[in-house]
Amino acid sequence: MKRGRLEKFDAFMSLTRQRLVQILIGVGLLYILLVTLEIPFVFRTGISAVSHEFLTRPPRLESEEDLEVGEAPARPVEKISFYANQPAQSHITENKILSGLIFDKNTFDLSGKDGSLELYKSAKNAWEVGKTVWEELESGNLRTDGDKSENRSESCPRSISLSGSEFLSHGKVMVLPCGLTLGSHITVVGMPMAAHREYQTGISLVKDDDEPVMVSQFIMELQGLKTANGEDPSRILHFNPRLKGDWNGKPIIEQNTCYRMQWGSAQRCDGWKSKAAEETVDGLVKCEKWIRDDNDHGEESKAIWWLKRLIGRTKKVTVDWPFPFSEGKLFVLTLSAGLEGYHVNVDGRHVTSFPYRTGFTLEDATGLYLSGEVDVHSVFAASLPASHPSFAPQQHLEWSRRWCAPPLPNFVVELFIGILSAGHHFAERMAARKSWMQHRLIKSTRVVARFFVALHPRKEVNVELQKEAEFFGDVIIVPYMDNYDLVVLKTVAICEYGVHTVSAKYIMKGDDDTFVKVDAVLDAARKVPAGRSFYIGNINYNHKPLRHGKWAVTYQEWPEEDYPPYANGPGYILSSDIARSIASKFQRNRLRLFKMEDVSMGMWVELFNSSKPVHYSHSLQFCQFGCIEGYYTAHYQSPRQMMCLWDKLKRQSRPKCCNMR
Ligand SMILES: *[C@@H]1O[C@H](CO)[C@@H](O)[C@H](O)[C@H]1NC(C)=O
Ligand SMILES: *[C@@H]1O[C@H](CO)[C@@H](O)[C@H](O)[C@H]1NC(C)=O
Repeated sequence: MKRGRLEKFDAFMSLTRQRLVQILIGVGLLYILLVTLEIPFVFRTGISAVSHEFLTRPPRLESEEDLEVGEAPARPVEKISFYANQPAQSHITENKILSGLIFDKNTFDLSGKDGSLELYKSAKNAWEVGKTVWEELESGNLRTDGDKSENRSESCPRSISLSGSEFLSHGKVMVLPCGLTLGSHITVVGMPMAAHREYQTGISLVKDDDEPVMVSQFIMELQGLKTANGEDPSRILHFNPRLKGDWNGKPIIEQNTCYRMQWGSAQRCDGWKSKAAEETVDGLVKCEKWIRDDNDHGEESKAIWWLKRLIGRTKKVTVDWPFPFSEGKLFVLTLSAGLEGYHVNVDGRHVTSFPYRTGFTLEDATGLYLSGEVDVHSVFAASLPASHPSFAPQQHLEWSRRWCAPPLPNFVVELFIGILSAGHHFAERMAARKSWMQHRLIKSTRVVARFFVALHPRKEVNVELQKEAEFFGDVIIVPYMDNYDLVVLKTVAICEYGVHTVSAKYIMKGDDDTFVKVDAVLDAARKVPAGRSFYIGNINYNHKPLRHGKWAVTYQEWPEEDYPPYANGPGYILSSDIARSIASKFQRNRLRLFKMEDVSMGMWVELFNSSKPVHYSHSLQFCQFGCIEGYYTAHYQSPRQMMCLWDKLKRQSRPKCCNMR
């Protein structure tokens, strides 16, 4: 904090060197005085807006909401392999496994969606990718694909080194058979080649006269080499320094990902340091600063730096480095895999960081590829994983008819429970099936429960998932590529299914780590007088969006100061009229979406309430933070705890918690 302030202060000093010197000395003295006396509040009220901006920084918030949103993407990924004993075809139930939610080109139409534009863009992309994945899955083409990955227990080298000529003879690819893992690093020693003339270039602006453009650029990619037949490998990280020829006329580094021919949004580093308020990656900025002029200011700046040191300035002096790559100059580049993303250092200095994107896992990065105007001298990879994580869905799924969902009844279902789940959560789903989903109300189909799962980036997982869905009859696939910011689509799918397929009176939403005391939940819904619209759960009033930090919600995403009253996500119930209006609005492309599904629900219910009064019912027994005695729902329950809760429930009437993990 303090160091940051001084840095800013320095920058300010160098900006207005000449005329403001006297004023600055005054301000500086005042600043030092105030900092030493630790009375920062003076700045908030006393001094002008400019110094205000320098001196007060948003505090780091670590509230409950912060953790809540952060938790889900960090879930440990379980590795699943191809299931050996395929369930017999005759076991396939008639239950349809695809969500009836209709996505089309207009669903994520970007016009008029100024607020959550990014969300709509990402939803559109996820839907397009999901569509092809689903079609492939349906056609059965992927089943054979799984056989190849069966033998994944091969042991892999911990480090690999290739000379430049070896690298060339391998087709400019270094194969990393077991992919990468946390802490893996790859070092490339190379030299950018001299720029050449190019008449047709994708990276510069098209000129009218047929003038050639001088271009020098190269590409380093982490690729997923294990893809389906004939498909381009996915680019898990695309790192493209453009020394000359980029359309902005300056050297830049462009980074991106590409999955099934779909490019994500590019991260361009053009020499400006990323703002401090922006998201960092393992505490590092996404883009470092470098001197933006090509003419060799590097030497000059180094001279100034030495001069400053000589005249004895004690304060920290920032050095401006030139663009890290130049023609004919050897570089040593190291790419490393951190907790939150990839980091690139060149010649020992951090240059860029690229946060991991959903859908790209480290173990999928099975090749390093280099191309373009670069002369590769050598490539080293080290701290590699020695083996593929073991795949064992047999441990999780129990292919017994006992756990299958009964078919949908002809009579009216009272309560429909939609459970948000992720493709690879086989163990979580199995635990729910074997515990609370064995409740007599579910067995007799007065209550129906289904898991809502989107498509997973790993093909084997989708293949498994499809078999699981067909066998147990309780999984509904919402055909978009899964992404934590898009869980809200599953919530809409739950409403749609609950209303159109099940025709339930009440709709409940839960998570796959939520244990549901089915009779208690149903009683809570039955208590509301017939015909009234209701919203029951652990309701938050007057919550505000978190505006700072990693999980910040921008004003663009959520312009209002407050959130509407909303029930915590792990368990809430709605009357079906509300669910019906949500599904219908979505189909008419009129539903506002927000990345937090529980807040979205609060918003939709609030809107519904403006035309028909809604009975809001708050209850702590829909426990959000874990388990309390007498719970209606318990959250964060591990598969073992689920079984334990179920055992206790069967033996004693009063619901008790299980406090092991
Ligand atoms: C799996 O790999 C091991 C060791 O590499 C090999 O001995 C075995 O034959 C392979 N099994 C199959 C089914 O390919
Ligand atoms: C619902 O609507 C009623 C009447 O219009 C209003 O008094 C109430 O505050 C609303 N409730 C919520 C939670 O918005």
